[in-house]
Amino acid sequence: MNIHSATFVGSAVRPEQYPPADLPEVAFVGRSNVGKSSLINRLVNRKKLVRTSKTPGCTQLINFFEINKRYRFVDLPGYGYAKVPKTVRRRWRPMVETYLAGRKNLRGIVLLLDARRVPTADDQQLGGWLQEKGLPLIAVMTKIDKLGRNQRQKQLEIIARTLRLARQTIVQFSAVSGEGRDVLWQRLQAMMEG
Ligand code: GTP
Ligand code: MG
Repeated sequence: MNIHSATFVGSAVRPEQYPPADLPEVAFVGRSNVGKSSLINRLVNRKKLVRTSKTPGCTQLINFFEINKRYRFVDLPGYGYAKVPKTVRRRWRPMVETYLAGRKNLRGIVLLLDARRVPTADDQQLGGWLQEKGLPLIAVMTKIDKLGRNQRQKQLEIIARTLRLARQTIVQFSAVSGEGRDVLWQRLQAMMEG
């Protein structure tokens, strides 16, 4: 995918703050620190389009980005981190659920899972909820640069089993090496144009 423009459109908490529903949109969800913002930066090959951090809870609002004036990527705040202040944690569910349940131009979701972890109860709950809603879903195993071949296969198995997904549908991705970028772009284009 050739990226000629990638721009930040704005942040939102409530629907009236969203940009108009006039472009196909894909949202990126997952546990805090799983690598959502880094993945978006790698997809568009811009190091600093989206702010990333070692500290979980970096993204706290719904952030909209416009890609090639044609698609919109939505970086959602992460969940599941005990150290994130309570007020922020309480705000997460209504903010994210309202977006996911009500956004008319939302074509699908990318669910990120850390290659070094067993999916948490939160991951399973969200995965199940998305499957129930019938929203098209792409599961991505992130940070695969941290694992060797054998470990990768083992983790792929674990993630597939806990989220009841077919193993071969899970995209293996690294924001560091760029592995998986082309595969993910193909799946995203099919999702947004299909
Ligand atoms: P929140 O905004 O808190 O929900 O986190 P996030 O999911 O947006 O994570 P973010 O992209 O900020 O990345 C979290 C940390 O993981 C940062 O220190 C990144 O550098 C690191 N990271 C992200 N992706 C990768 C990857 O593919 N490989 C490696 N090795 N590190 C990564
Ligand atoms: Mg983030």
